[in-house]
Parts: sequence; structure tokens; C-alpha cells
Amino acid sequence: MITDLFGRSLRDLRISVTDRCNFRCPYCMPAEIFGEAYQFLPKDEILTFEEIARLAELFVQLGVNKLRITGGEPLLRVDLPTLIGQLAAIPGADDITLTTNGYLLGQQAQQLSDAGLSRITVSLDTLDDEIFKQMNGRGFGTRRVLDGIKRAADAGLTPVKINAVVQKGVNDHTIVDLARRFKGTGHIVRFIEYMDVGNRNGWKLDEVVPASEIVALIDAAMPLEPADANYVGEVARRWRYRDGDGEIGVIASVTQPFCADCTRARLSTDGRLYTCLFATDGVDLRGPMRDGGTDAELLEVITGIWSVRQDRYSEIRTEITAGESGDARPKVEMYQIGG
Ligand code: GTP
Ligand code: 5AD
Ligand code: SF4
Ligand code: SF4
Repeated sequence: MITDLFGRSLRDLRISVTDRCNFRCPYCMPAEIFGEAYQFLPKDEILTFEEIARLAELFVQLGVNKLRITGGEPLLRVDLPTLIGQLAAIPGADDITLTTNGYLLGQQAQQLSDAGLSRITVSLDTLDDEIFKQMNGRGFGTRRVLDGIKRAADAGLTPVKINAVVQKGVNDHTIVDLARRFKGTGHIVRFIEYMDVGNRNGWKLDEVVPASEIVALIDAAMPLEPADANYVGEVARRWRYRDGDGEIGVIASVTQPFCADCTRARLSTDGRLYTCLFATDGVDLRGPMRDGGTDAELLEVITGIWSVRQDRYSEIRTEITAGESGDARPKVEMYQIGG
């Protein structure tokens, strides 16, 4: 086990398997920037499955027990179940999960489950078709995503979690409907405060709906009570329905940052290691790997990076920007490391 400068261990590895996406959510990949001419990574710069599995195994040796597959949209990566199978075979990789926009989930859920995926998280910001069309930037309705959620549950990828980014004036009036739809289904809806990830979404603090308001809105319609975290460092704060009919979560990265317990490392599609969602740079692991680096050498590189880690961006942002727009320092984009 290794720890960083604040004593935080390395527990979760989030692996981005593609920088492409079939959606153009304005808060992540605005269509005006990510148009037809946008150059995504060429194939030879993307880690192969063997390279990903090798790195994942090294991270597990250093204490990681949760692997989360992200993108872009991970289900666009050809033959993804093969990678899941390789990851599931790593002793100690106990929890293998994936975050998807759900559009291609219906057709892949069973295969992913058969390959060893433990569970799944699906992004769905609203049930209102018109707002959803606007929020995915592609005019897609909710039907396929809802079907994907159902098929994932049928395939045993449970508990299914549903992530909704809340943007003031865009979808905040649809929060209660979304919660109500999944109450009693066993699925867990988590409402995420809109964050200033990357530099391209034009984030402003006044577009953030504080988690406390989100909880108050739902509580007024369907009474809630706080629930304990499932594990130290859980990103979502849990609230359960007082009638026993399930729970919701809120991810309050802006108003109640959780850096103090952050045990997450992120591997970008091109093999860079980022120690924070808001980092400016990552450290290249692909180069040393392709240059013939041994496992011992790679372990040393990773350990070296983690042992000097001192990221706490969300805490610092709250200190600096209270009342202002996002920090202008260059930051990695969400589609490169998958949230
Ligand atoms: P489980 O508890 O394992 O289900 O997962 P999780 O909370 O890691 O789930 P998920 O990947 O769905 O995270 C939910 C969202 O929270 C992400 O998509 C991000 O938007 C946000 N998030 C996750 N990790 C971090 C983090 O380290 N820092 C910040 N600021 N936000 C994060
Ligand atoms: N703020 C908050 N959440 C975001 N996501 C993408 N961009 C942002 C942002 N700016 C969410 C997606 C998905 C997860 C990977 O991160 O909706 O649920
Ligand atoms: Fe794609 Fe997810 Fe980004 Fe939306 S938030 S553009 S679905 S990667
Ligand atoms: Fe971790 Fe960085 Fe998010 Fe803080 S801002 S919780 S350090 S990823």
C-alpha cells in the first residue's frame, strides 16, 4: 500500500478507454468545439487492452481494489467485453464497474456482465425528452437510455446507479421527477453538482445548484434521512427514503468538497496518469511501457508519482472562487479521463 503527502492511499483506478463520445453534452464536449473536424487520438496513441490490463495489475499490487472504466463513452471501444474479462482475471480487482451514457448499453449489457463486470453507472440528467435532447447535444431522446438501464439490471449489473448532472435553469426543475421514477426500483440516482472540469464548458458558480437544495427539493416531496457512507472516501453522500423505498446520493464536489479522502487515480486513453480530476498534466506511462520498462520500473514510477501527490483542487477552488467563475488554469478535459 502506498500513501500520498496527505496520507491518502491509492484505492481506485479510473481508466478511460476512448476519448470519443456519441453525445455532445455542452458541459463536457460542446458541439461547437468537438465538431466533424475535431481530431481525436489516433489508434497508435491509445493504450491496447494488454497495456491497460498490465497497468491495472500493477495498480492492484499497489492497493487498488476498484477499477472503473470510463471514456469519453466506453461502450464505443471495440470489443470492450474482452478487456473486462482481462481485468476481471486480476486477483484483487474486486469491484469492476463502468460509467456510460447508456445509449449502446441495451445491446451490450449481457455480454459485459458475462465478461465479469460487477455493476454499472448510467448518466441520465433528466427524464424530460426535450431537455435531454438539449443536454446530450445530439437530439437523442431518453428511450434507449432507459432501455439500457433495464437491460443492465436484468443482466445483474446491480445496483445500477444513475448519474444526473444538475445545471441551474436547465434541468433543476426535473430533479424530483427523476428521483421519483427510480424510487423503489433498487436503482440509486445520484445528483452531481455541475463542476468546472476542463476549460471549455464556460462554467459559472451561479449555474451550480447546491446539493443541500437538491436534497431539500426531494425531501419536500418524498421525505429523506441521511445514511452512513458505504466506505471511507465515498464520493456521494447518501440519503435514504424514510419509507424504506431506497436511496439517492448527492455529489457535492463544489459546495462540500471531499478531497481529504480522495483515493482516486485516473489513467487517460493515451496512458497518462492523473492524480486529480482537475489536474493540468498527467505523467506518461505509455512511453516507459513501450520502451520496454519492466514491471518493477513501472511500479517505481507510479509509486514516485503518488508519494508526492498533494492535489486538493475542489477544496482550494472553494477557497479561491467563492462567488466567482471557474479557475482559468489549464486543466485536463472530462472526456480525456472520464470524470
Ligand atoms: P461508486 O461509489 O463506486 O459507485 O462510484 P463513484 O462515486 O466513484 O461513481 P462515479 O464514477 O459515477 O462518480 C460520480 C461522479 O462524481 C463522477 O462522474 C464525477 O462527476 C464525480 N467525481 C468522481 N470522483 C471525483 C473526484 O475525485 N473528484 C471530483 N471532484 N468529482 C468526482
Ligand atoms: N460537472 C459534473 N459532472 C459532469 N459530468 C461530465 N461533465 C461534468 C461536469 N462538468 C458527469 C457525466 C457523467 C460523469 C462521467 O461525469 O454526466 O455522469
Ligand atoms: Fe459524452 Fe459523458 Fe461527456 Fe456527455 S458527459 S459528452 S456522454 S463523455
Ligand atoms: Fe480528488 Fe482532485 Fe476531486 Fe479533490 S478535486 S476529490 S483531489 S480528484
